[in-house]
Amino acid sequence: MGFDLKSARHWAEELLRQAVTEGSKVIDATLGNGYDTEWLCGLVGDEGHVYGFDVQQEAVDRTNERLVNAGIDHRATLFCTGHQNVKEYVHEKVDAAVFNLGWLPGTDKNIRTMRETTLQAVEGCLELLKEGGLLTICAYPGHEEGKEELNALIEWAKGLDSKKYDAMIRGYLNQPNDPPVMFAVKKNLRKGSRK
Ligand SMILES: C[S@@+](CC[C@H](N)C(=O)[O-])C[C@H]1O[C@@H](n2cnc3c(N)ncnc32)[C@H](O)[C@@H]1O
Repeated sequence: MGFDLKSARHWAEELLRQAVTEGSKVIDATLGNGYDTEWLCGLVGDEGHVYGFDVQQEAVDRTNERLVNAGIDHRATLFCTGHQNVKEYVHEKVDAAVFNLGWLPGTDKNIRTMRETTLQAVEGCLELLKEGGLLTICAYPGHEEGKEELNALIEWAKGLDSKKYDAMIRGYLNQPNDPPVMFAVKKNLRKGSRK
């Protein structure tokens, strides 16, 4: 009554609101239309920074335009390159890294995130995370490659050292068309602080 169980994107945002505050440094690993980047730039404020990645110039341009219109483009640096190269471009520790997998709506579906490069990118981002930092992933198992990407991420997350990381997955079990799934990985949780 009066509520629903929400979506992968909602759950990711709920966690990110705790990890990302004024002054935070964040990686947005998949710019797309720039909705997430704009939202993150709002959270980090003028003292923080968002590093954004996308393989498509169109995504970089759409995101840049969105930030310019909002008057907050100085809070972000956008790179037109694959997120698997993240460590070549980001040279400081970050509070959070955000992945929203798949393709840019309205463009070629073949230009999408791929299992191998996604795994390289999440590994790179984990290395860049501060202690206490958060990595979130929204994965889309509604198509075959997305399912494979999700399964690879599950195996990857299961293998993370439980002394260094807490890894969780959240998604619907009985809905049609395999709705998106949310992953969260937190670095170095202080044991005993879980509620
Ligand atoms: C679902 S969209 C992201 C949505 C976006 N976060 C937003 O708020 O609009 C996924 C994006 O990932 C990008 N992408 C695909 N492969 C990539 C890679 N290796 N590195 C970075 N971005 C990639 C696609 O070009 C696409 O724009």
